[in-house]
Amino acid sequence: MTTAIPEIVTLQGHILSQQARYPEASGTLTWILSALSISAKMIAAQVRRARLNDVLGAVGSDNVQGEQQQKLDVIANEILLRTLGKRHGVAVVASEENEEPVIIRNEREGERKYCVLFDPLDGSSNLDVAGGVGTIFSILREDRRAATPEASLLQPGAQQVAAGYILYGPSTVFTLTIGLGVDMFVLDPAIGAFVRVEEGLRIPAASKSYSVNEGNRLSFPAGYQQYLDWAQRNGYSSRYAGAMVADVHRILLKGGVFLYPPTKKAPAGKLRLMYEANPMAMLVEQAGGQALAAPGQRILDVAPTGIHQRTPVIIGSPDEVAAVVRQLGSSPA
Ligand code: AHG
Ligand code: MN
Ligand code: MN
Repeated sequence: MTTAIPEIVTLQGHILSQQARYPEASGTLTWILSALSISAKMIAAQVRRARLNDVLGAVGSDNVQGEQQQKLDVIANEILLRTLGKRHGVAVVASEENEEPVIIRNEREGERKYCVLFDPLDGSSNLDVAGGVGTIFSILREDRRAATPEASLLQPGAQQVAAGYILYGPSTVFTLTIGLGVDMFVLDPAIGAFVRVEEGLRIPAASKSYSVNEGNRLSFPAGYQQYLDWAQRNGYSSRYAGAMVADVHRILLKGGVFLYPPTKKAPAGKLRLMYEANPMAMLVEQAGGQALAAPGQRILDVAPTGIHQRTPVIIGSPDEVAAVVRQLGSSPA
């Protein structure tokens, strides 16, 4: 009997082989994903050396969300803008850290094809304590009929052609979908390449685990409080990293549900639709999970009105999302 030798596939090789399935593909998306892969390695290196390089803490300015910018938020943003800036096929880029979309190319300069939106560093308050942080990205085809670059970006998440995140944790993990399922890669620092560790990842259908900032519990709508009562009576565990990337990564692998409900302070929820909720929703749905803004409202179907708009999030294993919806549906308020 021969033992099968596991194949070693890098992110680059994986993307090229997926591209080969579409003979009409021009390779532009591949080129953009390779810029994201380089950014991921550069940001990972910065995150690892943050304390040594003395780049922890706040810059002293707020971003467009009115949230304090950490030095590394700015560094990660600059890395992404630099690597994507000259890429052929990138029409418009939008970031959590820039109020307006950054226009990379106008039509005279070259082909306009894709819009890239990102949260350069997610969970940045975890940086000071060496906790998990990440980058989230969403790729849309440019809407050539749109009058302005911003209007070109305002497409529902269902139109995303690719989405993913990079988790900077004990290892650096790149999780990607181009609409053909979800694949996961781990950076091998010895060779400087992302190596595939999961192909066609499926989220567990159920797991008695929820992920929510319970400190906000008293300001959640009644249905969410009822869900937490129900979950606690039924032996659920609570897991919360404080970085959506780290929480959703765990849920993709182990199951459970991630919630960011409306609160009194953030009545529309805290998380951003275009570069946090939409890409995570695409990944989770591609892995067999569900992602809702409210009962009956799929995140990917929300029609955006602004690039920085917020949305409530109920995302994870299908049975666990259904359990939340049941409690929300039976709540008096
Ligand atoms: P960012 O660091 O990009 O602003 O995102 C932080 C987000 C998200 O990652 C996390 O799930 C959530 O904020 C945590 O918020 P709370 O501290 O309110 O729980
Ligand atoms: Mn974020
Ligand atoms: Mn961020």
